[in-house]
Amino acid sequence: MVDVLVKTQKLKKYFRAGKSGLLDKILRQLPPLVKAVDDVNLEIGKGEVVALVGESGCGKTTFGRLLTTLETPTEGEIYFDGRQVTKSDQKAVRRKVQMVFQNPYESLDPRQSVKGIVTEPLSKMGISKVEKDAQFEKVMSAVGLDQNFGERRPRDLSGGQRQRVAVARSIVSNPEFIALDEPTSALDASVQSQVLNLLVGLREEYNFSYLVITHNIAVARYISDRVATMYAGQIVELGPTGEVLKDPKHPYTQALLKSVPSLDTKKIEPPHGEVPSLINLPSGCRFHTRCPFVMEKCKTEDPSMRRVGNVDVACWLF
Ligand SMILES: Nc1ncnc2c1ncn2[C@@H]1O[C@H](COP(=O)(O)OP(=O)(O)OP(=O)(O)O)[C@@H](O)[C@H]1O
Ligand code: SF4
Ligand SMILES: [Mg+2]
Repeated sequence: MVDVLVKTQKLKKYFRAGKSGLLDKILRQLPPLVKAVDDVNLEIGKGEVVALVGESGCGKTTFGRLLTTLETPTEGEIYFDGRQVTKSDQKAVRRKVQMVFQNPYESLDPRQSVKGIVTEPLSKMGISKVEKDAQFEKVMSAVGLDQNFGERRPRDLSGGQRQRVAVARSIVSNPEFIALDEPTSALDASVQSQVLNLLVGLREEYNFSYLVITHNIAVARYISDRVATMYAGQIVELGPTGEVLKDPKHPYTQALLKSVPSLDTKKIEPPHGEVPSLINLPSGCRFHTRCPFVMEKCKTEDPSMRRVGNVDVACWLF
């Protein structure tokens, strides 16, 4: 494998489900914990693209926010370029990581001009106006937008243009790692392919590493080197994209792929059953309440990741 840029070890992020009310305070009770990310180990290489797929609410955005220092872990470690990210050097790491947020309609400040939005990450870096203008020009050209867009507001842009602005903002400070949260889900198919091509081109030019969070398996197939399947706060399968998508090992990855429409699928089948609550997680394997292959052992014992060929998978079938 190429040099590792980002690494997580037993990474956890638990949230409190809501604020304590007066009664909770009197009874000294805390709201229950939401285990959004629960014990995740992942390495992303320099220049590598990893896609993170999984159902809504399984913890994908939280994981992206942890890697880009927008959330502080509850437990576990994050390493960036070989060094553990601690509270004191979070600031330094923040310059090298960026996140493109889930919804370009909500994530761009409507009051700011495009130039203000794109160059904002530079504002705390103490660079001159001349350098800032040059960098703005460079990234706007890299994302295929005209300089004249600088004075516009987000409301004056199409969805594709907004997403280009979000990408321009994410690369303006010359980061090494970018987490892209559903970068194309709000776009129609033709604009989606333009943005995907843009991301692929930028990665080739600047050797960025990406974590691409997506519901769309076709996007994962197109853009990523490896794919990670997330279920209820954990990664349950991780391997080379072609291999995982052609021959998924984990029953959950299999179920996800069966739910994807394609030209030759006659019937699409969503995974059976309810997505489990991250507050009351099922015992044993978290997928056992929905798994067609469930065995007795699965109900009580939690499978850890095992290497099967080139793929890591957490399932008692292996
Ligand atoms: N700041 C927060 N406070 C409390 N709970 C949170 C917070 N952020 C996320 N959560 C909870 O953590 C869980 C995982 O959320 P997350 O947004 O990471 O999921 P996701 O996989 O990105 O979902 P989607 O595909 O719908 O975007 C959810 O139950 C969510 O409600
Ligand atoms: S461990 Fe058991 S329940 Fe979990 S995915 Fe594998 S077979 Fe299904
Ligand atoms: Mg999300």
